[in-house]
Amino acid sequence: MLTTVPLHSPDFYAGDPYPAYRELRATTPVVYNDVTNFWALLKYEDIRYVSSHPQLFSSTKGITIPDPDQPEPVQEGALIFTDPPRHRQLRKLINTAFTRRQVALLEPKVRQIVYGIFEEVKSGSVQEFAESFAAPLPTRMIAELLGASPDDWERFRRWSDACTGTADPEIELDAMEAIGELFEYFQQLIADRRNEPRNDMMSVLAHAEVDGARLSDEDLLNFAFLLLVAGNETTRNLIALGTLALIEHPEQRQKLIDNPALIPNAVEEMLRYTSPVTHMARHATEDVEIRGQLIRKGETVVMLYGSANRDEEIFGDDAEEFNVERNPNPHIAFGCGEHSCIGAQLARLEARVFFEVLLGRYPKLELVGDVDRMRATMVPGVKRMPVRMEAGV
Ligand code: HEM
Repeated sequence: MLTTVPLHSPDFYAGDPYPAYRELRATTPVVYNDVTNFWALLKYEDIRYVSSHPQLFSSTKGITIPDPDQPEPVQEGALIFTDPPRHRQLRKLINTAFTRRQVALLEPKVRQIVYGIFEEVKSGSVQEFAESFAAPLPTRMIAELLGASPDDWERFRRWSDACTGTADPEIELDAMEAIGELFEYFQQLIADRRNEPRNDMMSVLAHAEVDGARLSDEDLLNFAFLLLVAGNETTRNLIALGTLALIEHPEQRQKLIDNPALIPNAVEEMLRYTSPVTHMARHATEDVEIRGQLIRKGETVVMLYGSANRDEEIFGDDAEEFNVERNPNPHIAFGCGEHSCIGAQLARLEARVFFEVLLGRYPKLELVGDVDRMRATMVPGVKRMPVRMEAGV
């Protein structure tokens, strides 16, 4: 079944896709886009099925909505672009740096960065929230994880924008050029850590060994690059859109001000409600049927997380509502199955600390202008969001 909903268009995701999702879930939950040629899945259970059958739905040929004008730069051999058994092996090695314990150790660092970000904000001032608050934390954390010098934070930021916002006219640096610069930078970093391990993630990974296997220089390079793209814009978008949800729902915000212990639960709801990563894609490795619809070998299947996360069959009649007390909340904003987000605990930690400090210091938040979004199908980040921030009484 074909759809006229522009599911291939960055503008669609930068706007409000939810009414169209609801309609499609009810009418054509497995639907074909013949502009750039892919199947879209709208239902939660279908997305879980695809994510947990990597032998039927491969990640090796690309993971984003096809765009003939900007072919996806598939990073062959990088974790997110591999299938089992190679994926399992790589993931085990990389997991050594992402255990719960390793991530918990990062909390003081996260707190220090967040305090720094809020340091000189005057109560009552209007701030460019996306740029000044949502952006710095994820970039600095990744720079920190990789052990890069704080002097390089701005360059990290530019590279990441170029890699994720390729369809946005404001992003000038060509994506391939950015990747080239980035690889060169990381090559040096890896060589340094191989020779002289320090107390950072790149050093852990450079010396990790599981079942006799180790990560090659190429694996490390691929991973460093992936981290920058996967962990940066995504978390930034969660912080910006999560803040927007709190501004638009003052009664929910008040619950968190009255009871900050609710913040971890609220972060889960922000993830569900805003779905910072709109989709991931797969390619069918053989003919397969979903909800009676034949998907042929080689065709692209796009999993729309934002739709799954508001599927009334899973989240009930209030699926469209923002409710910081929602429980249970089995959202799949971090994906699910084989490739589920390896950085989920880190993103949760960053968001929790960020909102604790934000609401603790500036409980009065007001949007004082338009929200401008990035033109990108996968992570349509917030570019501009003017917010007045005021201390409480
Ligand atoms: C709110 C923030 C984040 C969101 C919404 C998010 C979302 C996702 C999603 C949906 C996937 C699934 C990919 C797939 O199934 O093909 C994924 C994978 C991944 N994420 Fe995240 N992510 C976030 C933050 C992070 C952070 C902070 C890092 C690292 C520091 C990270 C690193 C990765 C990596 C390496 C993968 C690939 C895992 C694999 O292929 O096995 N992400 N993420």
